[in-house]
Amino acid sequence: MEIQKQLKSHGAWVGKWTFILAATGSAVGLGNIWGFPYKAGTNGGGAFVLIYLGCILAIGLPIMVSEIVIGRRAGNSPVNAMRRVAVDSNTTPLWRFVGWSGIFAGVLILSFYSVIAGICLNYIFISATSSGALSATDQFSNVISSPLNLLFWHTVFMTLTALIVSAGIKDGIGRMVKILMPLLGMLMIFMVIYAMINGDFNKAMTFLFAPDFSNVTSDTLLQAMGQAFFSLGLGMGSIMAYGAYMPKDQSIVSNSFTVASLDTLVAIVAGIAIFPIIFAFSLEPNSGPGLVFVSMLSAFNQMQYGQFVGPLFFILLSVAALSSSISLLEPGVAYLSEEGILPRKRSAEIIAFVAWVLGIGSALSFNIWSDFHLISDRNFLDSMEFITNQVLLPLGGMFIAIFVGWFMKKSLITDEIGAMNKVLYMLWRFFVKFIAPLSVAYIFYRQFF
Ligand code: PFF
Repeated sequence: MEIQKQLKSHGAWVGKWTFILAATGSAVGLGNIWGFPYKAGTNGGGAFVLIYLGCILAIGLPIMVSEIVIGRRAGNSPVNAMRRVAVDSNTTPLWRFVGWSGIFAGVLILSFYSVIAGICLNYIFISATSSGALSATDQFSNVISSPLNLLFWHTVFMTLTALIVSAGIKDGIGRMVKILMPLLGMLMIFMVIYAMINGDFNKAMTFLFAPDFSNVTSDTLLQAMGQAFFSLGLGMGSIMAYGAYMPKDQSIVSNSFTVASLDTLVAIVAGIAIFPIIFAFSLEPNSGPGLVFVSMLSAFNQMQYGQFVGPLFFILLSVAALSSSISLLEPGVAYLSEEGILPRKRSAEIIAFVAWVLGIGSALSFNIWSDFHLISDRNFLDSMEFITNQVLLPLGGMFIAIFVGWFMKKSLITDEIGAMNKVLYMLWRFFVKFIAPLSVAYIFYRQFF
């Protein structure tokens, strides 16, 4: 009864596909198309890709199922969902702090996410007007050297995010992802075909899929694991918040498989679209955050109709970023509005504003603050990425796995999981109880102690 009431206050996903689309919308974003290729590039390629895939399977997937189980069981925002399921399982309500850490991580991620997404918005116009006279590398340097330019686009993107979240779950989020995500998929495939014909395809495939483990360090492990959490959108309650809106008759396990597979596919396809161009144009695979902008603009500059295809690509990338950024804002907004502390619209505005202010630091880290180091030798943006991807998300995910594996009442879990192949269930339990938390703990141990 109470769950019904909660669902009513937040709305529920309409239609069978809406949860999958929205969860995929949350998962697929800059992490796949901007983050994955550049991190694979700076970490030597194949070995990173393989470790990343291992993390998705052994850690990400079991935790994704766990998050949705908690979210749907409670039908609340993550803070209250953790508290409620903990109380229903006769354990301490302090588990709600996992929800709080998620809200905190969400704001930190949103702050730098919006700056990068702002660059995507900027590239819609750059790719429409670029004549190729300026090299793609110089073009990127121009974009990031102007604080005002970055701040302008950061502001535009953050405003869009807040507007959509204000509109609420059904009208705002559900509607957008339906049309635009499939379109992005099609354009990515087009870019792969282009890269196969015009790029150095063989070299790219070797780089991405022939692992060389000789250079793998504890830092590579941590980065690959962080990237897996970030890309799937795990460890901070955003998929938990979405799970709260998932109809009871849908299968959590098969939905998780679909979302994780689509997410991984997009990351790999992005790599296959980008690296052939990097190698054919003698660009640097390890050049960092500018990789997607430089490589794609180089391709569009050469391509017939590049001035049309380019803007289309960056529009779709911006939409993918938007369908992720709204899920970063959702846990905090859901909490404030559900508690009656502030109306939904106000909550969205205030949290987005806090993230916007923090984002200024990331925008400046590309130019006037480039020498300012926050955590060891990391600039502001890198530090935000490090704290969230590599610390808060894995930590949050580890606690979620421990909670579901060891503390949550079994009957509550089986209620949500429903009828499921026994072996598969045992396997999932084993991964949630042991493999996922121990892997995170091991990788932390190797890196930090
Ligand atoms: N998964 C998104 C991406 O890959 O761009 C980013 C993200 C969304 C991270 C939601 C974390 C999250 F909770």
